[in-house]
Amino acid sequence: MATSPEQQLRAYVDYLRDMGVYDLYAREAPTAVLPEDVRTRLLEAASKVAAVKSAAPATAARAAAPAAQQPRPVQPAAGAFAARTAPTPPVAAPRPPATAPPRGDAPAFFGDDAPPPLPPELSAPMPKPKSFDELAPLPTQRVPAADRPAALAALRAEIGDCTRCPLAYAGRHNIVFDDGSPSARLMFVGEGPGQDEDLSGVPFVGKAGQLLNNMINAMGLKREEVYIANIVKCRPPNNRAPEFVEATTCSQFLLKQIDIVQPQVIVALGKTAANYLRGNNDSLTSQRGRWLAIRGAKLMVTFHPAYLLRDPAKKGEAWKDLQQVMAELGLQPPARKA
Ligand code: URA
Repeated sequence: MATSPEQQLRAYVDYLRDMGVYDLYAREAPTAVLPEDVRTRLLEAASKVAAVKSAAPATAARAAAPAAQQPRPVQPAAGAFAARTAPTPPVAAPRPPATAPPRGDAPAFFGDDAPPPLPPELSAPMPKPKSFDELAPLPTQRVPAADRPAALAALRAEIGDCTRCPLAYAGRHNIVFDDGSPSARLMFVGEGPGQDEDLSGVPFVGKAGQLLNNMINAMGLKREEVYIANIVKCRPPNNRAPEFVEATTCSQFLLKQIDIVQPQVIVALGKTAANYLRGNNDSLTSQRGRWLAIRGAKLMVTFHPAYLLRDPAKKGEAWKDLQQVMAELGLQPPARKA
């Protein structure tokens, strides 16, 4: 059955992601190029997938597959790269079973026509992101405080109903842009929206958000006085950490938010936020508790509130980090009620 180029491309992208290849987007200077024979065979394999998909084999495949291997039904606007223009209702392609061969081997789905394993550099886990200081020169002028709400609104409008990365197709309900004061001296950067944030469109409103509110109040501030944003603006499925391509696609917007607000201090909540802001894969332990710098602001890395909910014993360490921030900003904890 004939397949459209769009279907072929979507199947090709799905296939590469199944193989553990994430860096699907244009790079200024690609470090790895697929050898011609691998590329040709992948394209052939991709058109086979597209043919299988468009022949709507879902019923037969579902009937044949054990329950554990059944493809999940595609929700409206859900599923990575779910076909939007398919003539029949979209169905998820059969995925390699849980016992699929290890990464780098071809999924059993391709049978004897399996393409050869990908070169190691393409199936490697995570490339090193650029730090937010490497991404763009520091602004030479401050946006006047009075202009910041409009500047942020224009940035939000630029994001629009974003489809720049796979998270747009992963069941998102709302793009979660920011919360708080455009003139804040203190900015918190989290990882990405969870379910509550996705549904409300506001960052840090779930359980982790309540703990963040408590942390902010303990510092002698109100939530409305700080600025809050995330590395990615759309919810990663199952609350997983944002993937490289998702974070680096979205980073242009967080970067502009930082440059508009120009906070004196940024607190990175958790390893993921610290890694993407600083362009490294270092551990949280090696980064937290001491002053760093990013985009002209002082940077403090501390535990993510969701982590503190799981391990409350670490709250004392987090409080030490926040006390350093308070000293920098000249903040006093609120007076205890008698
Ligand atoms: N966790 C985050 O990192 N960000 C949110 O907005 C909510 C939970």
